[in-house]
Amino acid sequence: MEDKVKKAYHSSKNIYDNVLTQGSFFSRLYIKVFWSGTDDNEIARKLMSYIPDDFDGKLLDVPVGTAVFTFQKWNALDKAEITCLDYSIDMIDQARQRLNQDIRCVQGDVGALPFEDGSFDCVLSMNGFHAFPDKKKAYEEIFRVLKKGGMLIGCFYIKGKSKITDWLINSILSKKGWFTPPFQSEEEVRSVLNRYCKEVEIHTDGSIIYFRCVK
Ligand SMILES: C[S@@+](CC[C@H](N)C(=O)[O-])C[C@H]1O[C@@H](n2cnc3c(N)ncnc32)[C@H](O)[C@@H]1O
Repeated sequence: MEDKVKKAYHSSKNIYDNVLTQGSFFSRLYIKVFWSGTDDNEIARKLMSYIPDDFDGKLLDVPVGTAVFTFQKWNALDKAEITCLDYSIDMIDQARQRLNQDIRCVQGDVGALPFEDGSFDCVLSMNGFHAFPDKKKAYEEIFRVLKKGGMLIGCFYIKGKSKITDWLINSILSKKGWFTPPFQSEEEVRSVLNRYCKEVEIHTDGSIIYFRCVK
């Protein structure tokens, strides 16, 4: 399973940013047809706005991917201590090139995070849970390393919102390794976040759920 994920992100390393940011006519068409036009740029902007521009705590970005949506903000947060983690060497190598030298980039598995309990004031998990093979372990680990009172911000694909998106994920993207089942529904995500957090704010846009919650 893990090798399938590495292979998938290796094969897409040169087109990943273009597809997610809708950098060409074809990627805009793909998003319009298969993702009901849901704009990842817009969701990323909303998530980043939850983090104050003068944030000076410890932050974990998992999975960082190529840092396409986060590098500008992370580079500007010069009082924060930022750690970025991803399973794919190809993705994290691209992130390293974009991020300031003092931002720590680690290759690793969200299911076995190499950090102490309560190490972070904020965890960002953008477009990760639909790719993580062991989602239960990923939640456990993220909430283990997040301090009590710390903030988890995230977004990812949820099933049951659009037939064409669900078809694409099940018939193509999961087979290639970009997505890994089983996928969660909105109700399942709400139930997990409410179990771990005292404050939960959840929104959906097409087949993407995005949220801000406090442990
Ligand atoms: C769709 S990308 C999202 C990256 C970035 N956050 C973004 O929004 O562009 C999913 C990422 O999850 C990573 N990933 C998959 N399984 C993982 C795991 N077990 N631990 C850490 N990262 C993982 C992949 O390598 C890939 O970079």
